[in-house]
Amino acid sequence: MDNPETLKILKETIDKLKITKENLREIRKTNQTFPRQTNTRLLDAFQSFAQFDRAPIWMMRQAGRYLPEFKEIMKNRDFFDACQDPFIAAEITLQPLKQFEIDAAIIFSDILTLPKAMGMEIVMDKEKGPIIKNKLETVDDINRIKSPDPESLEHVYDALYLTRQALQGKQTLIGFCGAPFTVFSYMVEGETSKMFLKTKKWLYQYTQETRKVMDLIARESAQYLINQVKEGGAQVIQIFDSFAGQIPPIDYIEFVIPSLRILLEGFKQECPNTPLIMFAKDQNGVEVILAFLKMCLGETPLIDGFQLDSNVSDDVLIKIIESDRTIQGNLEPGVLYGTQQIIKKRVSQMIEKLQTTRRYIMNLSHGLTPDHEVEKVRQFIQESIRQSKLYKVREILE
Ligand code: CP3
Repeated sequence: MDNPETLKILKETIDKLKITKENLREIRKTNQTFPRQTNTRLLDAFQSFAQFDRAPIWMMRQAGRYLPEFKEIMKNRDFFDACQDPFIAAEITLQPLKQFEIDAAIIFSDILTLPKAMGMEIVMDKEKGPIIKNKLETVDDINRIKSPDPESLEHVYDALYLTRQALQGKQTLIGFCGAPFTVFSYMVEGETSKMFLKTKKWLYQYTQETRKVMDLIARESAQYLINQVKEGGAQVIQIFDSFAGQIPPIDYIEFVIPSLRILLEGFKQECPNTPLIMFAKDQNGVEVILAFLKMCLGETPLIDGFQLDSNVSDDVLIKIIESDRTIQGNLEPGVLYGTQQIIKKRVSQMIEKLQTTRRYIMNLSHGLTPDHEVEKVRQFIQESIRQSKLYKVREILE
């Protein structure tokens, strides 16, 4: 059964704005007024001096198969069909918000939505995950990649718009895309890889061509993110470089960061005030973080916040805090398999370490997976909220 409460809010929104499948796009293009933001916790985490009662919280992959209502709605649906239906995508995005007291909604979509629109034929296999049928095999194949037909991504902006209206200002809406390296890696591997040998062959053998493709992805990603904000109403952006840790820092800095910079500059030129969170998974060592922080020295910092892994060092944390950037993270999701005691203890340690900056967003160090239990996820959230408030009170008293 569909979650009745989620449906209720979505239905109320649809009724109030007189939205139908046929007129949604027209309404979006003519009415860009959104409900007043009453929960500003997430947005405030990007301000140095904002007041706050506790740190905001959300979780990567919060809409997913660990939720029974997600499994139900996806039972007879293809993954990309669900993404392409704004009403279904909005409903799935709202599902975790009905379960938990969280401060943000991340739009139900995928990092592969953009490469799909750029000519990659992608199917989502229920067991194996994404499969690309026409992956890049030879250097000539790069000519097959094209700029997306603008129509092909409109459904994402429609879903964002509908979700933002339905949130009623009670949560902040996050848009996202994959980083050029991770998207490129899918284009050449054709599936989620273990060794990333094809990616490495391209990177080290055909460096120029690889850069060319990553730069193209970067330019298109910038436009895609700009549209998510300006057309769809996304309020915060996160970039997922899930495979960043597959190459050493020296190569990440030399080969990958220049493409990322194209993406970040393109986005920030148009949306300087939209907070952007960078997630370079397994690349939060001092070299890469310093390279990123260098990009934040200009008038418009290119990165506003860092999603960090659970292994981040104190030295790196200090550098980020000194640079007045926001920290997001970083509880190992596996802790949520554990007892209430271990969840409590690790949340407490995380808050002691990370909430020392006001610019802090509670999150995991990677996404939730299908084997997480809803009740354990709830424990994590409740415990995080309780302890974050306590920490805040202690800070005032001391
Ligand atoms: O809740 C959210 O975080 C929002 C939506 C979201 C999805 N994918 C939905 C999804 C986001 C932000 C992503 C990003 C994504 N997609 C990443 C980067 C984050 C990360 O996990 O490192 C990557 C690498 C992908 C590619 C991808 N998509 C894989 C490898 C898979 C299959 C494996 C899996 O995790 O299930 C997907 C499918 C996918 N994307 C699902 C969801 C909810 C599962 C769909 C289903 O099985 O029904």
